[in-house]
Amino acid sequence: MCGIVGYVGAQESIPILLEGLERLEYRGYDSSGVAVQHDGTMTVCKAKGKVSALHALDLPYGMPGPGIGHTRWATHGEPSDANAHPHVDQSGRIAVVHNGIIENASLIRERLEGQGVVFSSDTDSEVLPHLIAAAEADDLVGAVRQALAVIEGTYGIAVLDSRDPGCVVVARNGSPVVIGVGNGENFIASDPAAIVRYTQQAIFLEDGDMAVVRADGFQTFRLDSTETMKRAETINWGLDTYDKGDHSHYMHKEIFEQPEAVQRTLSGRLDPQSSSAHLGGIDLEPRDVLRLRRVKILGCGSAYYAGLAGANLIERLARIPTEAEPASEFRYRNPIIEPETLYVVVSQSGETLDTLRAVQEIKRKGGRVLGVVNVVGSSIARESGIGIYLHAGPEVSVASTKAFTCTVAGLAVLALHLGRVRDLGAGDGDRLIAGLNALPDQIAEILKTEDHIAAVAERFVRSTSAMFVGRVGGYPVALEGSQKLKEVSYIHAEAYPSAELKHGPLALIGPDVPSVAIVPDDELFDKNLSTVSEIRSRRGPVIAVGHTEALHEVADEMLLVPKSEPELDPLLLGIPLQLLAYHVALARGLDVDQPRNLAKSVTVE
Ligand code: BG6
Repeated sequence: MCGIVGYVGAQESIPILLEGLERLEYRGYDSSGVAVQHDGTMTVCKAKGKVSALHALDLPYGMPGPGIGHTRWATHGEPSDANAHPHVDQSGRIAVVHNGIIENASLIRERLEGQGVVFSSDTDSEVLPHLIAAAEADDLVGAVRQALAVIEGTYGIAVLDSRDPGCVVVARNGSPVVIGVGNGENFIASDPAAIVRYTQQAIFLEDGDMAVVRADGFQTFRLDSTETMKRAETINWGLDTYDKGDHSHYMHKEIFEQPEAVQRTLSGRLDPQSSSAHLGGIDLEPRDVLRLRRVKILGCGSAYYAGLAGANLIERLARIPTEAEPASEFRYRNPIIEPETLYVVVSQSGETLDTLRAVQEIKRKGGRVLGVVNVVGSSIARESGIGIYLHAGPEVSVASTKAFTCTVAGLAVLALHLGRVRDLGAGDGDRLIAGLNALPDQIAEILKTEDHIAAVAERFVRSTSAMFVGRVGGYPVALEGSQKLKEVSYIHAEAYPSAELKHGPLALIGPDVPSVAIVPDDELFDKNLSTVSEIRSRRGPVIAVGHTEALHEVADEMLLVPKSEPELDPLLLGIPLQLLAYHVALARGLDVDQPRNLAKSVTVE
């Protein structure tokens, strides 16, 4: 996944493009570049490395737009100056930035090389400027349309032509493209975050949409050149929400935003009157809920792990068979779509292509989809049609923290809603509403123990591997805890259901492999203690996460969290593991917000 940005207007474009790219760096940060078209010339500057590397180049400052920019997450061709975008045709007339994968690029390349075209990169994207330059069309939009007609795959593109001054042509299929509507100027971006300083009016293009963007306006079309009318949506989040404030990293800021973020996820949704939860956006009549035979939760990465926690909640509170599955697996195994199954798709960004394609597959087969999404107006939200917005606020750090916690809170609200339509009594409803309302303060309490967690993190700094274990509700907590440590500290951390340890993974345990054991104060407490002693009897150091001081006697370290309702405990037990991973990465001197090889959400399959 990459980030694209563009500007058309009288202002100097370089500062706008650079700031936009810096705000899109969470989407990919292995190389970047810009192109500015001015007086019939095209100036292209690009370099391997982060956007900061661009600042060192001789950029065309002082030139007004149009201009386009790109920050890359390599899929085809290793990070290098030559493989960085924008890519140009042989004459240097056409410049293109592309987010996505062109699946038939090698065939097209072969054909073009056969016609004498010389390529200067190893990327799939470079076929675009050559195809556009070769197109026989009256204008740029026509040439781009011809080029896209032979392309198979996904794209979000922005194109400049030094012969067609004053405009940028954009198109979308699978990768997000937003037009930012300004006053006498217009903006282009993969995500409103890149342009929110200049406008809060955004037009989200759909798959198959194209647009010609000029300073004084824009026209939108379908790929078949049918003209379309688009309505701008207002972006709710201001510039400050995209800044780190006094935190040294976005990850730290987003961990500490969780009390307010969870408050926003819950707000207006808990109804003490009916001892239930009210969800305005889900369009599920009580009789639909009664007819449900199954719930299937789909997502990728941390969204999938949040889905696993949600599955436990829905089974416990609504007594509907519920399971979670990685969206990418579900999509390609030709799933059996059942009319009485509710398909819940979970995504922070709402742009993860594996999840988006799963939604489209379910809808193609007539299934009922409900989205649980953070980014308003994102592709998965629009494709799902009905759903729950998390209102967690922008999440910039690649490792998800507040969005994970808010997703579990959102799924808890859904479970309460479904449960109260089925067999969950009002007493339980009241108990859970009280438990949910107490969460923000309880999270704030855990965050106050940061210094202790940072001290415990020291145990991992020189480790090469680590183990996480938990039972039932504790297992998704272990999975997400190990995911966080992997993502930001590069320690090979594995997670297992506690009882599985003795069936194999116990062989990995030893003095230099720290283990995190999720040991809540519940009916499985003794069972979890036996797992702790199993590890310690192999001299494996154990960090126990739980509710009682008594854990001191059985573990090497202890991370305590306040007790909530048993169904909600997993939500709190995961918070210390976010800070643990953060402090291990910090102590290892790593780039916490932009870990190697990853991107915030991946818009390629
Ligand atoms: C990965 C991110 O690219 O995508 C993870 O690095 C994230 O943090 C996963 O959990 C899924 O993203 P989303 O936006 O669909 O929840």
